Amino acid sequence: MGLINRFMDIVAPPFLLIALFFFLPPFYLYKLINSFLSSRFPEDMANKVVLIVGASSGIGEHLAYKYAKRGAFLVLVARRKKSLQDVARMCRDFGSPSVLAVPADFTNPEECQKFVNATIKSFGRLDHLVNVAGVAALPLFEEIAEPSHFQAVMDVNFWGPVYTTYFAIPHLKKSRGRIVGVTSVSAYTNIPRMTIYNASKGAVRNFYHTLRIELGAEIDITEVIPGAIESEITKGKILTEEGRIVVDQDLRDASVGIVPIERTRDFARSVVERVCNGASCVIEPPWYLGLYYFRAFIPEVTEWGMRLFYVTPPGVPATEDLAKKLMDLPFVKYILYPPPVRSPEIKRD
Ligand SMILES: NC(=O)c1ccc[n+]([C@@H]2O[C@H](COP(=O)([O-])OP(=O)(O)OC[C@H]3O[C@@H](n4cnc5c(N)ncnc54)[C@H](OP(=O)(O)O)[C@@H]3O)[C@@H](O)[C@H]2O)c1
Repeated sequence: MGLINRFMDIVAPPFLLIALFFFLPPFYLYKLINSFLSSRFPEDMANKVVLIVGASSGIGEHLAYKYAKRGAFLVLVARRKKSLQDVARMCRDFGSPSVLAVPADFTNPEECQKFVNATIKSFGRLDHLVNVAGVAALPLFEEIAEPSHFQAVMDVNFWGPVYTTYFAIPHLKKSRGRIVGVTSVSAYTNIPRMTIYNASKGAVRNFYHTLRIELGAEIDITEVIPGAIESEITKGKILTEEGRIVVDQDLRDASVGIVPIERTRDFARSVVERVCNGASCVIEPPWYLGLYYFRAFIPEVTEWGMRLFYVTPPGVPATEDLAKKLMDLPFVKYILYPPPVRSPEIKRD
């Protein structure tokens, strides 16, 4: 065994590199032609049924509007009932023939089963399951008093999509439907202060990618990887160690830093268009792909950059980091952050 592995150590790396060299050009040509053809014949969402979990604000809310404009029946899920009903009303105005708003908690498997069943009872089928709901937390890992206090991050960002996907699969198989899972660019670039958040997004990303292999062609899966997008999270909404939801805009500046925040409506337009074109992975805005390659090929440089901008020694507040200092320079926030995220107001039912 040892001898075989030693032989593979010598032979495999150059063989794989040469294979990649010959395989990549025709593969990318195939992908280019495929993506061109898919954009000519996008999936028609009229009268299809879309279940969106996390639709009461931000990304999920705007994805709902875009699906509504394409004529889809919608089932909207989140905990804030009034906000959900407001979004449902807007979706009807935008053209959805029927919208069901189901207040529910993603972290409870029984509630997940109930809202999937409610979808089938109301509309008789399910075509797209869109798992958006998520929660952010921004502690420096060393400063956490007790790691289990952040269990909720894993419950929402990982277990929620797992439960819902589990109950939706039999219905998606019947319609040869699609799962759309929202992860995060931070799971690839590893932004500091997001250790547990990044771990939860990395876990759910691996869940989707492995599931795609298990399911084969029966159900398509699109991973949506947002960069910095206007929402309640980029207003500074975080989960504290005490389990409270607060808005901390100084901490937001210190952890998002000097990157442009994209408007949610532009993000949602691009995502729904590419999802309907059959994309298996959507990075939005696309320029983050560059960061992904940077991280993959020269990890030391990205790690150094992240430390330079975002890390303060334990005990020194995050607001002392370089990212926050740059954000405090005149006009920077006005140039990079759209007006809604400069306000700390979030929807309260
Ligand atoms: N905005 C960004 O820059 C960014 C970047 C990368 C990834 N993401 C990801 O994008 C997703 C959407 O976030 P967002 O930025 O749009 O923030 P947001 O405005 O805070 O939206 C989060 C949504 O998740 C729902 N949610 C949270 N906990 C839930 C629970 N236990 N059960 C049911 N619904 C729950 C919220 O509704 P209720 O509170 O009413 O339940 C809300 O609808 C998240 O997964 C986030 O990690 C966002």
